[in-house]
Amino acid sequence: MRRVLPALALVFAFAAAAAGAQVADHDIAVQAIMATGVNPAALAFWAGGNDPPENETPAEAEARWAAAVTGAQALQAGGRRLLQHSRPGRWDEFSRLLIEGGEKGEAAARARDVDAAFAIGGDQVYNACNGCHKTYIPSPARAP
Ligand code: HEC
Repeated sequence: MRRVLPALALVFAFAAAAAGAQVADHDIAVQAIMATGVNPAALAFWAGGNDPPENETPAEAEARWAAAVTGAQALQAGGRRLLQHSRPGRWDEFSRLLIEGGEKGEAAARARDVDAAFAIGGDQVYNACNGCHKTYIPSPARAP
């Protein structure tokens, strides 16, 4: 069984649906933080915790882990930027969870600890994305 974070599939599904999704208080700045910062950062970090691609060379593994470290750092930066766009409710909590996931994730990626990267990717990082989206992006199903 290949190990791939379930988060990936869900986030891709979310991203695909985003164009048609009902977004409460649509915010171009937050959308840009997601599209150019947080989302690519998460994909790069998650790639550290997932099974490596077939026939990955040592140089490619090196590059994948380096990108996971950079991605984890960008998650921290993304969380800090999100705090500057605070909203009522649990927004700051999810932003801080993203920062915490990025900090722990950076340590795991630096140590090339696949198990820790996988666990953090599915826990703090994914729960930050999913928690905030569930709260602040009403699903199309719930939209009138
Ligand atoms: C603190 C809240 C918060 C967190 C944490 C968060 N998001 Fe978002 N995200 C949003 C909001 C709000 C939008 C909708 C922005 C808009 O269009 O107004 C959004 C939109 C998106 C989009 C759609 C962007 C587009 O081009 O329309 C993607 C992709 C995305 N988020 C990925 C992620 C991923 C991956 C994570 C976690 C690693 C994450 N987000 C964490 C609040 C958050």
